[in-house]
Amino acid sequence: KKIYYYDETDSTNVRASRLAEEGAEHGTLVVADQQDAGKGRRGRGWSSLPGTGIFMTLILKPELNPSNASMLTLVAAMAVAKGITRCTGMEAKIKWPNDIVINGKKVVGILTEMSAQMDYVNHIVVGIGINVNNESFPEEIAQNATSLLLQSGKRVNRAALIEAVWEEFEHYYDRFMAYQDLRDLRKEYDASLANKGQKVRVLDPKEPFDGVAQGITDRGELIVDTWEARKLV
Ligand code: BTN
Repeated sequence: KKIYYYDETDSTNVRASRLAEEGAEHGTLVVADQQDAGKGRRGRGWSSLPGTGIFMTLILKPELNPSNASMLTLVAAMAVAKGITRCTGMEAKIKWPNDIVINGKKVVGILTEMSAQMDYVNHIVVGIGINVNNESFPEEIAQNATSLLLQSGKRVNRAALIEAVWEEFEHYYDRFMAYQDLRDLRKEYDASLANKGQKVRVLDPKEPFDGVAQGITDRGELIVDTWEARKLV
């Protein structure tokens, strides 16, 4: 298994995509200590100061229909949650689809990007950002963000956590690929679901609604029961 390590890069996702295009193998891992242009979801950035976090991206070249690829983000979330529990003993919960929270605050973000043709995946990069040894956060995000250090009071060995996440990912990935959906994983995913059995507000693009989150389907949709109906998000 190959690992590329950089003291500094623009974004491990960007770097991984380039490496994938240049022929990097399935399973290659890209890690950086610092990112100058860390990418978050919805066009946002991801603060990536040196010495604090884990910034890693996995390169995947699966034989998978592109329409099934988004489920890999949920697979990654399971692997990271498990890796964190293994390394820190803390319970990490998944906020559907793929944020990881401890005591209600976000510690992990995942950004999956794909290059595909109509029915063929060229490559997928799964980017994982973990707030590990951050001692504080900028005011704008301090209310919603936390780190493993802030939650446990202990510094966490980043190399050991990377190793644990990588190992867990392999395990869940194989179980996902066996059916190319989440039927074998959904019970375990639901057990880690942060809002299971609780009232959630779904910010549906058309119309927001309230309901109770029940778990996920085999395809990774969130099942939300409202007064009138069971809805899939
Ligand atoms: C989110 O907005 O929640 C997703 C954040 C993803 C951040 C990680 S850090 C490693 C990888 N490289 C990036 O540029 N982004 C992802």
